[in-house]
Amino acid sequence: MRILFIGDIFGRPGRTIVRERLPGLVREHAIDLIIANGENAAAGFGITPNLAEDLFELGIDVITTGNHVWDKREIVEYFESANGNEHSPSRRLLRPANYPAGMPGWGLYEGCKGNVNYAVINLQGRVFMASNDDPFRVADQLLKTIKATVIFLAIHAEATSEKIALGWYLDGRVTVLVGTHTHIPTADERVLPGGTAYITDVGMSGPYDSVIGVQKELVVGKFLNNMPVRFEAATGDVRLCAVVVDCDPNTGRATSIKRLMIA
Ligand SMILES: [Fe+2]
Ligand SMILES: [Fe+2]
Repeated sequence: MRILFIGDIFGRPGRTIVRERLPGLVREHAIDLIIANGENAAAGFGITPNLAEDLFELGIDVITTGNHVWDKREIVEYFESANGNEHSPSRRLLRPANYPAGMPGWGLYEGCKGNVNYAVINLQGRVFMASNDDPFRVADQLLKTIKATVIFLAIHAEATSEKIALGWYLDGRVTVLVGTHTHIPTADERVLPGGTAYITDVGMSGPYDSVIGVQKELVVGKFLNNMPVRFEAATGDVRLCAVVVDCDPNTGRATSIKRLMIA
């Protein structure tokens, strides 16, 4: 089974490059399952129901998110609209599973693609981020409930150490563990000894003539002056960052992980 994961899709530039390049990527790499982070789809801040539907219509099977998930409040109603339908698009949008109990949405999706049962887990880190539940122990709990052999986990976190530690902790227990959130790809993709394909951060799919997606002048000014400023999405040097993972659907072990950055 071959899985494509697309890093944080940022604003219109990110959505456009994904729409333009995804069909070619799927053909070229014979992709079976497509997962993407959509937390920045709406001009960099959150995701609306319409934008989520647009991404699903491109063929993305599951959308993960992170700390920006609530930026567009209407996403709460979108989660609620799943209304017991286990495979509706709104059920295939995830927010981190280790958010406080009772929050809208889900952090785990279990589906089937090409006769292969798979699970997607979304978690968020705690270092330099909001203090949610412990992602390590929440992963343990979720893994006890999952029957699928192919398990994809996206950890949305700031600190490289937290992501690498979770990778080692879950090596051999998940098929893929990818990091998101920093919007900067790391060059450490590898298959860990237990068979987990790992990368600390996939990087953003969006405008790189920016500071992690935002117009660079605004962010430089913020660092210089500490004055409140409304961040606007940048537009230049758009790239799509992703990884392609090969795995054995019978064992759930990954055999390769390849990093992509295309302009
Ligand atoms: Fe992001
Ligand atoms: Fe984030």
